[in-house]
Amino acid sequence: MSVQTPTSPATDAGSARSVSRRGVLLGGAAAAGAAGLTPADARAAVGDLLSRAGVFAFGVASGDPTATEVLLWTRVTPVPSAVPGSGRGPARDVVWEVAADEGFREVVRRGRTWTSAERDHTVKVVVSDLQPYTEYFYRFRVRRDVSPVGRTRTSPDEPGTTHALRLAFASCSNYTGGYFTAYRGIAARDDLDLVLHLGDYVYEYGNEPAVPGVPGSGDRYGPRELVGVRDHQPPVEMVTLEDYRVRHALYKSDPDA
Ligand SMILES: [Fe+2]
Repeated sequence: MSVQTPTSPATDAGSARSVSRRGVLLGGAAAAGAAGLTPADARAAVGDLLSRAGVFAFGVASGDPTATEVLLWTRVTPVPSAVPGSGRGPARDVVWEVAADEGFREVVRRGRTWTSAERDHTVKVVVSDLQPYTEYFYRFRVRRDVSPVGRTRTSPDEPGTTHALRLAFASCSNYTGGYFTAYRGIAARDDLDLVLHLGDYVYEYGNEPAVPGVPGSGDRYGPRELVGVRDHQPPVEMVTLEDYRVRHALYKSDPDA
């Protein structure tokens, strides 16, 4: 992945913004027990949080840079019910822009694509004809909603020569294991050419804590202090495409991810 800015809007919604319908039901039941709410109240609260999180609740990202191309990504939530993995919500035209400056006074590429429930309202665009080893800014637009601005960089193109690059890497990012403050630190730097994620960007585990003294029990990793604070959605080991869409969205709902 190339350099990203922390682009998800900060909110206290946390995992509630990206739960699946199944997760809403389970989470609703848990919330009802904890706060004296009915499951219907809890579902309404989740819907309210999601709608406040907005059309671009999961931020933007870029990656796969070459000397002349870069891949851009985002997810659109066209209506509050179009939660990740739901298969719900209308199709939308999506405009993307790449600029030389953060204020988008000098837009160098602009295009249009579309997304729908069939691809979980994700957007992937390969932008070409860019200049080598150049920093760019990018954003998306759906109707009147504009995404956060991302920052990216193309790779050098100097065949036969060596080129010093400054890289950062991350790995083993377990939502239930702690917070993603390392991402925040990486994004705050402006001297990096590339950010590599070496793998385990998401984890497949469920939320069942191990029983002390029972080998092989539980499928949750991380400190007990984070049970109920940083829980996986869906709450079971992910197996289906829907599970993966929900889990990926949960991770992307973290403002630092
Ligand atoms: Fe790992």
